Amino acid sequence: MTALTPLTFAETQIDEIAKAKGRVAVCVDPEGRLDVGARRVNKLTRGALARLVESEAFSQAKPGSVTTMAYPAGLEAEAVDVICLPKSADQTAARKAGAALAKNRGKADLLVLAGSFRRVAQIAYGIAMRDYTFEDHKSAPSKAEGAVRIMCSKPEDAQAEAAPLMAIAEGAHMTRDLVNAPANVLTTTNFAERLEEMSALGLKVEVLDEDQLTSLGMNTLLCVGQGSDSPSKVVVMRWDGGKKGDAPLALVGKGVVFDTGGISLKPGAGMEDMTMDMGGAGVVAGVMRSLALRKAKANVVGLVGIVENMPSGNAVRPGDVITSMKGDTVEVINTDAEGRLVLCDVMWYAQEEFKPAAMIDLATLTGAIIVGLGHENAGVFSNDDALCNAFLKAAQTEGEGAWRMPLGQAYDDLLKSRIADMKNIGGRAAGSVTAAQFLQRFVQDGVPWIHLDIAGVASVKAETALAPTGATGWGVAALNRLISNMFEAD
Ligand code: BES
Ligand code: MN
Ligand code: ZN
Repeated sequence: MTALTPLTFAETQIDEIAKAKGRVAVCVDPEGRLDVGARRVNKLTRGALARLVESEAFSQAKPGSVTTMAYPAGLEAEAVDVICLPKSADQTAARKAGAALAKNRGKADLLVLAGSFRRVAQIAYGIAMRDYTFEDHKSAPSKAEGAVRIMCSKPEDAQAEAAPLMAIAEGAHMTRDLVNAPANVLTTTNFAERLEEMSALGLKVEVLDEDQLTSLGMNTLLCVGQGSDSPSKVVVMRWDGGKKGDAPLALVGKGVVFDTGGISLKPGAGMEDMTMDMGGAGVVAGVMRSLALRKAKANVVGLVGIVENMPSGNAVRPGDVITSMKGDTVEVINTDAEGRLVLCDVMWYAQEEFKPAAMIDLATLTGAIIVGLGHENAGVFSNDDALCNAFLKAAQTEGEGAWRMPLGQAYDDLLKSRIADMKNIGGRAAGSVTAAQFLQRFVQDGVPWIHLDIAGVASVKAETALAPTGATGWGVAALNRLISNMFEAD
């Protein structure tokens, strides 16, 4: 797994500044007052910092933005990154600053002089989240990673506040590793193995194989994988950190390691992006990892359906009718609408087996959600306003875009089939909504439920606030926050 940046907190020792290797970062408030660390940098650079701070450019700098002085005289460091940070900086500005520092530093050592600025742990979180590169398949060995030292007035407090944030960052790194992995590497078997390894963190991990899935009657899930040589699996990860006997939150993820579309084959252009079609399962895995790392006081069960959607002589055909674990029959009109076939069985199993207090599923489910919301927001569908609003608030606090979409009987009616209980597609109109309606048919009465369509946000072609191009880890932080707000005992 891509490791987190080694990051430590220490008291400010101004004599270390002159000889620090790599980069030195210093916080300056928008009024341009220099604190002890900044004054030392200024002295060593013979007034260069003060000149920068008095410049027109700095007077227009936004909170959290970083201006760089390259190869400063008087310091061994290759650059000084000057962070514009109000003393009362909010979480967003502090994270933004951290992300900018991480981006600038590459693999160099970094010494951050944070003095008595607030939000030191949030700066650290910004660094940890943005400091990610996926290098599993680069043949050139990357230079050994530099380390990050943050000097501040209360290092123990900052360290304590940063610990759960680092757990979230590590979870997001895992999600990104999984989502970035090519499908010949992240096979269904390899995916299950990576999840099983998390039992070392105290998670209870169980892998259900095809024989078990057959006995359980998970035929809609199995029909998706039947054209692939890779065996379908369901992996169940349990974190029992809450009160014994309390009903868990269930997280359910779509884990299609590659989606060719099956017999309803996708066009060739861009098909390579379908390595990310296990994004929902990737987020579930990342959240479970974070919960274990921060020893969350909550009962959460993560379930992922891992399959590969391939065309072959024994692939499921358009027109086939399949009986789901629930017992409802589905006419498969389009084998490319496979995610819902995987999820419906895993959701049903989750409810039968764990009687969850609430259920949230995540899936790169529809291209239509990208048409609707682009790459800024995931689509949020829910049968429960309280749970939904709590999630939207958590997502907003974490800067992860989320936008509620409608559900309703008229959309559900579009799924009527002439020969079976339902079809697996509704038609061109409202494709993301009819997909959500399909899933809702598998939500039991009284179970508060959210469906997150993350097709637009799981992996993107441009960097985002806290992630480089590629897999984002969207949702790991929001779900952690929702869990700590709603499901965690104090
Ligand atoms: N995995 C895709 C959805 C997707 C598209 C994810 C683009 C990420 C980026 C899903 O399985 C799919 O193929 N959906 C179809 C549904 C249609 C056949 C009703 C789609 O969106 O075209
Ligand atoms: Mn598909
Ligand atoms: Zn898919």
